[in-house]
Amino acid sequence: MTKIKVGVAGYGVIGQRLADGVALQEDMELIGVADVAPTLSIQALFEKGMPYDLYTADPGKKHLLTDAGIPVSGTLEELIGKVDIMLDSSPGGIGAKNKEIYVKNNVKAVFQGGEKNEVADIFFHGYANYEKGIGADYLKLTSCNTTGLIRTIDAIDREFGVEKVAMTIIRRVADPGDYHRGLTNALMVDKAPSHQAVDLMTIMPHINATGILVHTPVTHGHIITPIVSTKNKISKDDLLEMFRKHPRIRVVKLADGFLGNASLFKYARDLGNPRGDMYEVAVWEESIVKSGDDIMFAINIPQESVVIPESIDAIRAAMKMQMTREEGTEATNRYLGMKA
Ligand SMILES: NC(=O)c1ccc[n+]([C@@H]2O[C@H](COP(=O)([O-])OP(=O)(O)OC[C@H]3O[C@@H](n4cnc5c(N)ncnc54)[C@H](O)[C@@H]3O)[C@@H](O)[C@H]2O)c1
Repeated sequence: MTKIKVGVAGYGVIGQRLADGVALQEDMELIGVADVAPTLSIQALFEKGMPYDLYTADPGKKHLLTDAGIPVSGTLEELIGKVDIMLDSSPGGIGAKNKEIYVKNNVKAVFQGGEKNEVADIFFHGYANYEKGIGADYLKLTSCNTTGLIRTIDAIDREFGVEKVAMTIIRRVADPGDYHRGLTNALMVDKAPSHQAVDLMTIMPHINATGILVHTPVTHGHIITPIVSTKNKISKDDLLEMFRKHPRIRVVKLADGFLGNASLFKYARDLGNPRGDMYEVAVWEESIVKSGDDIMFAINIPQESVVIPESIDAIRAAMKMQMTREEGTEATNRYLGMKA
């Protein structure tokens, strides 16, 4: 089997998880990762014995890495020369700058949610519009909340036809270990509609969506509460059955002790998942409730790991490894060890 060669630019919260996810794909080869400074994640990579080769994305400041004793295998441009596709998880806005190097070297790339939509030809989600990504050169993944939200809305849409969605998003304000957001104890409301609702309509233009986002001073996951209007009548049992079958949705119960975002984070750690990650979004069974003909539920979004499967789907679509969403997402799920 010829393996698709992949590089990762930006070895931060998302990049280190993308690297681990790609390394698990038996039909892909992770050639290396690029970053600019000896961050804690890079220091941990070094202490782990450099399982991935590191390239510098800022050749003029290579000494920042080498002075810290960290081996550097070359420059980002040299990494690009060795790969079929780059996953760019550098900070929002930097991906657009890196794109100039990808274009110059004629290599495909998948960008993350912090970039503007214009960075890519296709705004991508593995389940909702896989086919649009087939053969594309530049794809942008949806953000963490949008990725998880669309998984659930797409599943309902395919079986019951969704007309309208309205939601509240309770958004974790920082990732674990972020000091630069301050030591906060306040909630903050964003201007409506939230970008996640607008993004959902970009990917699924037949759905009317809106929502309000509230930032909260927690780090272990966001919670979204969509209210969904369907074309065909849907019951709580219908929704549960569909979500239980979905490989990237986990149904949990308050009664079992899953009281909120922190229970899911702790459970993922108890499972021994690296970094306490969970690829699935979780739906609380007891949160599912009818409002007239509409249905409402609460989902947990593990923001650090939720976009990894759909990012790998983007490689499969761009490189034409699988030509349908079913085959593409199934391969990603299998290699990540998710339910069939
Ligand atoms: N953190 C989340 O919860 C989350 C979830 C989904 C999507 N995203 C998106 O993923 C992207 C990355 O976010 P993050 O949270 O992983 O950021 P991060 O700050 O944790 O990591 C970014 C890394 O990129 C490195 N970097 C800086 N300049 C670079 C360059 N020119 N080339 C390569 N690397 C460079 C930094 O040193 C850092 O290690 C953003 O678009 C963000 O919006 C983040």
